[in-house]
Amino acid sequence: MATSTHKLSAHQVSGPIGYLNGTFAELKDLHVSVLDRGFLYGDGCYEVIPAYSKKPFLLEPHLDRLVKNLAKIRIPLTHSLEEITGIISELLALSTSEFNYIYLQYTRGTYPTREHVFPAVIQPSLFAYAMPFTPPTLETSSRGLKAITAKDIRWDRCDIKSVSLLGNILLRQQSQDLNADETILLRDGYVTEASVSNVFIVKSETILTPPLSYQLLPGITRGLVIELAKEQGILCQETPITEAQLKDADEIWVTSSTKEIMPISTLNGENVGTFPKKPVWERLFKAYQARKNA
Ligand SMILES: Cc1ncc(COP(=O)(O)O)c(C=O)c1O
Repeated sequence: MATSTHKLSAHQVSGPIGYLNGTFAELKDLHVSVLDRGFLYGDGCYEVIPAYSKKPFLLEPHLDRLVKNLAKIRIPLTHSLEEITGIISELLALSTSEFNYIYLQYTRGTYPTREHVFPAVIQPSLFAYAMPFTPPTLETSSRGLKAITAKDIRWDRCDIKSVSLLGNILLRQQSQDLNADETILLRDGYVTEASVSNVFIVKSETILTPPLSYQLLPGITRGLVIELAKEQGILCQETPITEAQLKDADEIWVTSSTKEIMPISTLNGENVGTFPKKPVWERLFKAYQARKNA
């Protein structure tokens, strides 16, 4: 059972605040053992939860996904959900910003020797922090993001929000190297997701997104977009998307907790469909903002 003992008061704070195994401190003052399996192996999983006006958005599905991911990788949940929620509230209370994202990470913990096999007895490590961020606006999002496509070189369990992100990092860097903002991934000719987000396309006013599988993250934003599309009476199909369909789309969007719903302006340097017109995106963007403000 976790103890959250060492607390800070808001006036002691000048930089982003973190929590590590019972201690709240400025991020720069938190240190983890070199023997932590998160450090040695990327043996853990994480969540990123946006918080607007210091209130976490969609906290329940994020915590639900964390619990499911921990079970998938056999790390015991050593805090109750109330304790985790309490840590998040404390981090938000200490933040100097109204808008933050919460990073929450469980690793398998620290053990005296480095061995692949899980140690029989090991205490998981919980790390979290609140980081100020600027939520997208209609104006900033409308400009769109540039995307490229690349072969999805990652492993076969991309449904797990693992901290082992080397594949995603290398793929995201490919777009960065070409002055683009995101890399849309193709496996055997089909879209899976993007390096840091899920993918949607619009064709003839129907929204399409790849179905859930081991090959993509069940994004919390993806789930909400599907729900909002239904509410808006827009047909939304979870169906495989070919590379040809992606290239022929009227609109392409990527979704994530911090990007929300972002339209893609160019794909591999070519203008996407009807961009800068993106009427379906605009409806969903507004519905998303309304849900945030509700
Ligand atoms: C690979 C990948 N897919 C999808 C997402 C979107 O997930 P969510 O909407 O839960 O933030 C992310 C977010 O970080 C991601 O890294």
